[in-house]
Amino acid sequence: MENRISGKKNRVRIGRIAYFSILFSLVFFGTIGVIHAGVNDTAQIHRYVGDESCEVCHSSERIGNQFQKWKNSPHSRAYSDLSSPEAHSIAEKMGIGDPQKSSRCLSCHTTASKASLPEITSSFRKSDGVQCESCHGPGEDYSRYSTMIDPHKAKESGLVAAPGQETCITCHNPSSPTYKKFDYKRDVQKILHRVPASFRKTNKGEE
Ligand code: HEC
Ligand code: HEC
Ligand code: HEC
Ligand code: HEC
Repeated sequence: MENRISGKKNRVRIGRIAYFSILFSLVFFGTIGVIHAGVNDTAQIHRYVGDESCEVCHSSERIGNQFQKWKNSPHSRAYSDLSSPEAHSIAEKMGIGDPQKSSRCLSCHTTASKASLPEITSSFRKSDGVQCESCHGPGEDYSRYSTMIDPHKAKESGLVAAPGQETCITCHNPSSPTYKKFDYKRDVQKILHRVPASFRKTNKGEE
């Protein structure tokens, strides 16, 4: 008697599990199918994931806390500074409205200003200004641990490991309304965020 009841209960439970598995598969693989189709359509795009995806690994002192160094630099304020009185007066002279809404300012004061939505994941925030990916390239595909520690794989997945002058002058050029002469050698010193040699040694040791 007891056995039959629990047998029935079990069948009901198995039935439910089967039902939910099918439902889950439909929703989950259905979504993947759509994402996949999207990726195939645009062939080989790397998506922007935002600075918080780098913070996870790049905020320990051991690795050199690149995240905090960037956070303390003017690049992290590039978007919020567009709300300053100075920004508004520049915009007014140029005959444009809110600088935080104008592509004529956002092109240099944010990351991925020209990227469309499929190229950006939901963790990305425009308000974080000139982020890691402005200089190092969109990070979705290189920021996995196994890829990051392999320079060749990382490069193939879109990483610009050591951005040079050509990256900087896409923004530091005379079409900036406040342009100050840019000198790579001098100016890169102001934003340096190197990985300590000690980390590279011990990290290799752990592999
Ligand atoms: C899962 C952890 C992890 C995440 C997430 C991550 N990194 Fe890294 N990254 C590392 C480690 C570890 C190294 C050091 C590799 C080495 O030198 O051995 C590294 C190295 C680098 C380097 C130097 C590469 C070289 O060859 O010198 C750059 C640049 C970099 N990361 C940028 C980023 C950016 C930008 C993001 C976010 C989009 C990011 N990383 C996300 C772990 C991570
Ligand atoms: C071509 C890229 C570019 C464009 C377009 C651009 N900026 Fe900038 N902006 C920069 C750079 C680079 C700096 C750093 C200083 C410089 O000009 O060399 C800067 C600095 C500033 C500063 C000074 C921040 C501070 O307090 O030190 C303000 C304000 C500013 N920009 C406002 C604007 C406004 C408003 C617009 C749109 C009308 C705009 N910018 C368009 C690249 C640009
Ligand atoms: C996507 C555009 C962009 C790129 C790429 C970029 N910057 Fe900037 N940079 C800015 C903006 C905008 C500011 C001003 C931010 C603010 O003060 O609000 C700035 C400010 C600076 C400043 C402080 C202002 C000054 O002139 O002293 C330095 C230093 C600097 N950048 C160095 C670099 C270097 C070096 C590179 C290349 C490795 C680089 N930037 C790449 C947009 C950019
Ligand atoms: C304005 C451009 C710019 C931004 C923004 C930027 N970087 Fe870099 N990054 C560089 C340049 C240039 C270098 C190479 C400089 C050098 O060591 O000579 C570099 C080097 C690195 C390295 C390797 C350092 C080494 O010792 O080889 C790591 C790791 C790194 N960046 C991570 C990050 C992370 C994480 C962020 C965001 C939190 C970030 N970067 C934001 C320009 C940038």
